[in-house]
Amino acid sequence: MDATGQWWRDAVFYQVYPRSFADSDGDGVGDLPGVVERLPHLRDLGVDALWLSPFYPSPMADAGYDVADPRGVDPLFGTLADFDRLVDRAHALGLRVVIDIVPNHTSHEHAWFRAALASPPGSCERSRYLFRDGRGADGGEPPNDWTSQFGGPAWTRVREADGSPGQWYLHLYAPEQPDLNWRNLEVRSEYLSILRHWLDRGVDGFRIDVAHGLLKAVGLPDAGTVPQGWEGRMHHRLPYWDQPEVHDVYRGWRRVLDEYGGQRIAVAEAWVPHPDRLAAYTRPDELHQAFNFPYLMAGWDAGRIRAVVDASLDAAHRVGAPPTWVLANHDVPRAPTRLGGLDRALAALLLELALPGSVYLYQGEELGLEEVVDLPDDVRQDPVFLRSGGTLRGRDGCRVPLPWSADGASMGFSPNGRAWLPQPAGWRALTAEAQVRDPASTLSLYRRALRLRREHPALGGDGVLTWLQSPEGTLAFERAPGFVCFANLTDAPVTVPPIGALLEASAPVDAAPDGGHVLPGHTTSWWSVGG
Ligand code: NOJ
Repeated sequence: MDATGQWWRDAVFYQVYPRSFADSDGDGVGDLPGVVERLPHLRDLGVDALWLSPFYPSPMADAGYDVADPRGVDPLFGTLADFDRLVDRAHALGLRVVIDIVPNHTSHEHAWFRAALASPPGSCERSRYLFRDGRGADGGEPPNDWTSQFGGPAWTRVREADGSPGQWYLHLYAPEQPDLNWRNLEVRSEYLSILRHWLDRGVDGFRIDVAHGLLKAVGLPDAGTVPQGWEGRMHHRLPYWDQPEVHDVYRGWRRVLDEYGGQRIAVAEAWVPHPDRLAAYTRPDELHQAFNFPYLMAGWDAGRIRAVVDASLDAAHRVGAPPTWVLANHDVPRAPTRLGGLDRALAALLLELALPGSVYLYQGEELGLEEVVDLPDDVRQDPVFLRSGGTLRGRDGCRVPLPWSADGASMGFSPNGRAWLPQPAGWRALTAEAQVRDPASTLSLYRRALRLRREHPALGGDGVLTWLQSPEGTLAFERAPGFVCFANLTDAPVTVPPIGALLEASAPVDAAPDGGHVLPGHTTSWWSVGG
């Protein structure tokens, strides 16, 4: 707990992607009872909280980010009683529970969208979404040039009740995910009620999906040419991202969170290009945290990382919020693959765990799992893959079910050996069961590092760090009292002068003849200094 008594300011969160975490009923898809069974793994790992990706009733066009009933649990994942048990059990183990909320869009099977389709243009039912007439003589062209994040146009045309070609509705993601109209007051009050529903059930907070996308520029103007991929996602001059009015929504949400005791929090998933824009979401009367994607995107480059760390600390402190650090989630290739090796990923982990603020981990990174790049096309389920006709590989490769033990065809994921995506044979050596017994394993390193982070007086809180001079391609900083982090991001070993007593390192550190130390390439080390 940080010195202010605010648990979330330096907390380590662990993302549970329920369909791939643990399956209790043998259908090959993870579920909430499966999460409950494996909660001791999270307690022993040493995290403070878990964030659960969506478990709501859904036709699963986007793995549950297409929510048909935001107050329930999909039978695939269990029941509301299972959810309540999960919260109780997690709390009993000292773990907080944060859940995903998806306000930008609903499923096309949500009762509101069905009602909208059954109602005429101009109706109240349609005004909860973004229906517009098409362009061109017969309205046959989409209302503007916006494209879906999953490829293709962001508009789909409907048939009216009499069977004639009708209006178009906006979907920034799949057609099965119609965007809500956040200028409609009913939409706003509905989401306040959804927040209360889950707060009443004891959740400790929310991760807000597409937090930067809720409001669209008035008049829905054309966007012009938009860069592909991450660059497009981070583009801040688009009429559908990061509009100033979105902040009013979060001021209202904050008032609701503050009505509840126990420090309930919210974290924004906001893809905005600069830490300053991100910090706007965490002003004192808005959200508590926002994911730091510029850090995730800085790669494994000392100069870029240092620049992002400085800009993030500066922007966060200006609004009094804790910075956050994230290297992985269910939308990006796993870190060992993205950064070019497990050694780099582990070095990046120790680096982020030593920074002031809060850290988000993604399930399976504690086992050192790589991205699964060779999934056969016929098992892939990500709409990014399906909608791009396979030209984009999509996100299934980071969503493969976890390997728990050597037994069974699905490595302990499911009681009868099924798994909704096939696990690589090589993961049999990486199971949690195998790693927990091996002090040199990735899991053991995670456990030791998280324990040290809790115990070392310098590593709590979201305060400052002081950069130390260090050779090109390395990063060194000090945190008071008595802690130094030294990272070598180059291929070659570096010899460093005596620093202090080694606390932990992502690879073995040797003694140098003059009392100094030899740090292998792509290694981060933690040191106790002074006193
Ligand atoms: C962000 C989520 O993390 C991603 O998985 C999802 O596809 C989109 N938002 C749309 O909800």
